[in-house]
Amino acid sequence: MRTLAELPWPRHTARLELRPAVAADTAGLWRWHRLPEVTEWMTAAPSDLESFAARVEARLDDSVTVRLEGRIVGSAKLHVEDGWAQAEVAVQAGRQQCEVGWVLDPAVQGRGLGTELARELLAIAFDGLGVRRVVALCFADNTASWKVMQKLGMRQEGRYRAESLHRSGRWLDGMTWAILADEWRNRD
Ligand SMILES: CC(C)(COP(=O)(O)OP(=O)(O)OC[C@H]1O[C@@H](n2cnc3c(N)ncnc32)[C@H](O)[C@@H]1OP(=O)(O)O)[C@@H](O)C(=O)NCCC(=O)NCCS
Repeated sequence: MRTLAELPWPRHTARLELRPAVAADTAGLWRWHRLPEVTEWMTAAPSDLESFAARVEARLDDSVTVRLEGRIVGSAKLHVEDGWAQAEVAVQAGRQQCEVGWVLDPAVQGRGLGTELARELLAIAFDGLGVRRVVALCFADNTASWKVMQKLGMRQEGRYRAESLHRSGRWLDGMTWAILADEWRNRD
């Protein structure tokens, strides 16, 4: 089982370049990441560059920075974790699952780049990292994000009623989507 750092980089899609994130990417991300339309559904909405940089740096091992024509336009998460297992077989479930996530500069959204990025993340997770299951989570109201999951052939495995507390104070439905390595390899 390999780590992100051990894979060959950069990776290219038709339009995007992906590289492991480094602390120096922070300023290029902050330019648009701070916008309310970006943070609406994100886990955190840091209010200043310093706290944003601290979050970025804490997550470097699991993060990929995305460039379009040389400019930083996105960030993605590939967090490898253990599959759930009974105690007697827990070792075999180690590092078998990867949670993916994505965010793009609003200036480049709506032209298929989210789907293009996410498709590459699945290739990295299955062919590069060698996990057996990829999972993605979102608020059910985040249509753009779950549509990306759906377009990749991921399956909605759960919709949880009023399970996730939004920073507006509302308890909202959450969703889990997933796909197995065999399903990914046997897709049309
Ligand atoms: C999620 C995100 C990466 C999608 O990026 P994108 O480049 O706009 O996605 P695509 O162009 O590939 O579009 C994917 C699908 O979502 C739809 N879509 C895009 N934006 C939408 C919106 N605001 N509302 C509803 N549907 C939307 C597209 O129409 C497309 O579906 P279709 O093919 O059926 O028409 C982008 O919206 C984003 O960065 N959002 C903010 C951060 C975020 O919420 N991240 C996910 C947290 S779980």
